[in-house]
Amino acid sequence: MTGARAGNDRRGLMDRREWLRLGATGAAALGLPACAAREGDASAELPPLRAPAGTGDADWDDVRANFLVEPGTAYLNNASIGMPPRQVVDAVAAGYRAMAELPARGRSDLGARIAEHVVPGLADLFSVQPDELTLTRNASEALHLQSIGVALSSGDEVLITSQEHPAGRRPWEFRQVREGVRVNEVFIPSPLPPEEEILSRFEDAITPRTRAVAFCHVTRGGHLYPVEAICGLARERGLVSLVDGAQAVGQFPVDLTSLGCDAYSVSLHKWMLAPAGTGFLFVRRDARDRIRTAFAPDATPEQPQFGPPGTAAFPVRAAIGTAVDFVATLGLEAVEARCRFLSDHLKSRLAEVNGVTLLSGARDRSAPGSTIFEKEDLDAVAAVGAIEASISSHIDEHQRDGHNAIRISTHIYNTTEQVDRFVEALARTTG
Ligand SMILES: Cc1ncc(COP(=O)(O)O)c(C=O)c1O
Repeated sequence: MTGARAGNDRRGLMDRREWLRLGATGAAALGLPACAAREGDASAELPPLRAPAGTGDADWDDVRANFLVEPGTAYLNNASIGMPPRQVVDAVAAGYRAMAELPARGRSDLGARIAEHVVPGLADLFSVQPDELTLTRNASEALHLQSIGVALSSGDEVLITSQEHPAGRRPWEFRQVREGVRVNEVFIPSPLPPEEEILSRFEDAITPRTRAVAFCHVTRGGHLYPVEAICGLARERGLVSLVDGAQAVGQFPVDLTSLGCDAYSVSLHKWMLAPAGTGFLFVRRDARDRIRTAFAPDATPEQPQFGPPGTAAFPVRAAIGTAVDFVATLGLEAVEARCRFLSDHLKSRLAEVNGVTLLSGARDRSAPGSTIFEKEDLDAVAAVGAIEASISSHIDEHQRDGHNAIRISTHIYNTTEQVDRFVEALARTTG
């Protein structure tokens, strides 16, 4: 158990379970009006949430009952945005209602929940200290904050990789244009080469002017970078390490302290099933001398004040706690196993389709939920449109990193029947 986990008091855990048991809104815990507590309380009829015993569809039936997606729709684009369970949706609504009915009390109750429950819950789940986390609106905001926070002079160099999301790349391009910082791109092939090759590509790119490395934990295509090893190399060379964890958290356990990065940026509205508009920035305590706030001239290492000032979407942030409880009750190991079960099923079915080339790597190099592949003579963008029109589904193209690929990203609530329906539509789709 990490210090952060051990340090998290048992009362907090009980509070979180209680909140989840309250289901639809947790309104009583917030002291919300009774009408808010009743609204949308369909989850009262749901079986109690517990970690399923296995990875198969039937094992996850009770969990699936918590999601609101239209029956018949195969939502296979979870790497883009996840579907919050009904408890999360209801918690957002109840929070706004509380602020509308009793603005001062509603706001202070939500603020207390964010400080006492949401942030400690996230810190516990990701093995850090609560004061190392700053809530943000998304990963892009966190990536921007972590990038602009590093003190750099004109001519200093930053390494990024060829597979970064624009949200990870743009803040550096901004600094390149505004401040003359040099952004050097390390080419990382897709499918991923072995770890040693990735590391030697980084090593070869380091020069005496390199100050920081910034890269994804999991790429948009689902490739899993050897993040601990890259952070270790950065530490050895005295470089700041900044990680984009948007596609990682919520799919499998992540221990941010063990990863050894200086900063890590997160989306909570993808695999973590939190409401849209949520994320966080982690800055390790002993990196606060190298990563500074852009907002507060009076910030200190004890009060780093990374977040932009001003009124936040309190109900949305408070509802993160409901999503954290949901995921923590299932357990991230169980979520990983279920996501892996579904993507393994997809991969075995894709092997039956003529002309398909799988681009996702082996287990140690691919995230559990995202799979990319190409089909001979098939334009991925056109195929996505055609398949979405032929069966009720949501999928994505991956025309990048030299590929003309389709990406399927499966989460716990998907089923093998949905995957089969997709594969059959793919087999029928030509040109
Ligand atoms: C790797 C990666 N980084 C960053 C982002 C941006 O995330 P957000 O929408 O939370 O800003 C995404 C979104 O898809 C992503 O895939």
